[in-house]
Amino acid sequence: KIIILDFGSQTTQLIGRRVRELDTFCEILPYNKFPKNDPNIIGVILSGSPYSVHDKEAFTVDLSQFIGKYPVLGICYGAQFISFANGGKVEQTGTREYGRANLETIDLETPIFKDFKKGSQVWMSHGDTITAIPEGFHITGSTADVKYAAFANEEKRVWCVQFHPEVFHSTQGTQLLKNFVVDICKSKQEWSPASFVESTVEELKAQLGNDRVILGLSGGVDSSVCATLLNKAIGKNLTCIFVDHGMLRKNEFAKVMEAYSGLGLNVIGVDASEKFFKDLEGVSDPETKRKIIGRDFVEVFNAEAKKIVDAKWLAQGTIYPDRIESLSITGMVIKSHHNVGGLPKEMKLQLCEPLQWLFKDEVRRVGRQLQMPERLINRHPFPGPGLAVRILGDITREKVRILQDADDIYIEEMHNYVCEDGDALYNKVWQAGTVLLSTIRSVGVMGDERTYEHPVALRAVTSMDAMTADWAHLPYDFMAKVSNEIINKVKGVNRVCYDISSKPPSTIEWE
Ligand code: XMP
Repeated sequence: KIIILDFGSQTTQLIGRRVRELDTFCEILPYNKFPKNDPNIIGVILSGSPYSVHDKEAFTVDLSQFIGKYPVLGICYGAQFISFANGGKVEQTGTREYGRANLETIDLETPIFKDFKKGSQVWMSHGDTITAIPEGFHITGSTADVKYAAFANEEKRVWCVQFHPEVFHSTQGTQLLKNFVVDICKSKQEWSPASFVESTVEELKAQLGNDRVILGLSGGVDSSVCATLLNKAIGKNLTCIFVDHGMLRKNEFAKVMEAYSGLGLNVIGVDASEKFFKDLEGVSDPETKRKIIGRDFVEVFNAEAKKIVDAKWLAQGTIYPDRIESLSITGMVIKSHHNVGGLPKEMKLQLCEPLQWLFKDEVRRVGRQLQMPERLINRHPFPGPGLAVRILGDITREKVRILQDADDIYIEEMHNYVCEDGDALYNKVWQAGTVLLSTIRSVGVMGDERTYEHPVALRAVTSMDAMTADWAHLPYDFMAKVSNEIINKVKGVNRVCYDISSKPPSTIEWE
């Protein structure tokens, strides 16, 4: 495996994804947690950082832990730190070098630049500039403005690049990472969905033996793939619990239950909507709504879980980005949307998280390997509190019904709309949903009658990870059709708007 040491850069996760795309296992660890005595390491990558090497708070690392032992690739701050720590010079220029540049001169003989083209476009994003490199190193690439854009000490197997090969705008960045991971580190490229399924099923069998396991299903990709994998390993010893809080999408509970039973899962479906609606009555503050739903969810889930008296494990569909976020060293990445709260202490369950090393796209690849239905695998993310955070103000069954009907039209049309490349529009967006603006009324006219009803807002975003998002540029003919259908078919709605805000500053959900 490749170890990626995280110095707090926004693009560290991207480095991980790129390495995984080369069918090579990698682990992202905080800069100061380089593992001792791990026989599986084949190479080390140092990430960028928001700090300058001159900052008092700058992250430093003892390079002798790995330089000379494994091939090392330093990216941006990683390159600056390697240079600085070995006697090179890094100067604070005060101006950021940001954006596209071209490698005007490039050493095509050095293995890291195998198959590169002179003038190759790279992406720069740094404040300091390297003005002298350490002894034993030589320049391998320069841009018009940056003399030491790339340098290396081939004897010690250290390669440094000032630019970011992991980002899309470095057009041969993937080639560079491939040269490092495959040619220099000699990865066998054996990390694949098939090998993951095979080895994980074996590990789960060994770990769980004949124990009973409980898993909370949400209808989403992660928990569904997690359940299918466990089912393959331990079959009927797995009990899944799927709680319906009444604010799922239209017919979602029935549809998802059916899909799960098709997969052979042992699922207990709990219709607890009565309790949720009752507890939410008259509550309109978004955070209070979330808290009530979270609390009720835990209560309902726990009551069911307790019935499985001999359960020893709680399985969760935690994926790698969830874990990296909680490891985040600079505190810049913050996300607090977690649904399953504390379980009753007396149950003393151990945690089983078989997807904890996977990125979202890998979870989907594993799902395909397990032959799960494509509709389940491609699902957009859906918030735990469901439609409750898409209804402004207080919640009633009637409002949920209106929103479900409008949303169903929107999402189904998105599945039906085929784009130029033959793929459904649904698969082009990260997430889409409808918001009921139930605190607003506007006047309309239908036939000869005046209406005074609520608008809905359609939301669709493109994103990599929900941390940032852009509004999706949906085709006008699609929007026209959806708007028409919603206004004609959904009683209670007389106007349709499209949300054209990106995140930041606007969040994906309205509440
Ligand atoms: P925001 O609205 O913060 O959402 O831009 C980012 C992503 O998180 C989802 N989301 C939630 N998920 N419980 C969840 O499980 C929540 O309370 C919650 N709020 C937002 C949202 O749908 C988007 O994918």
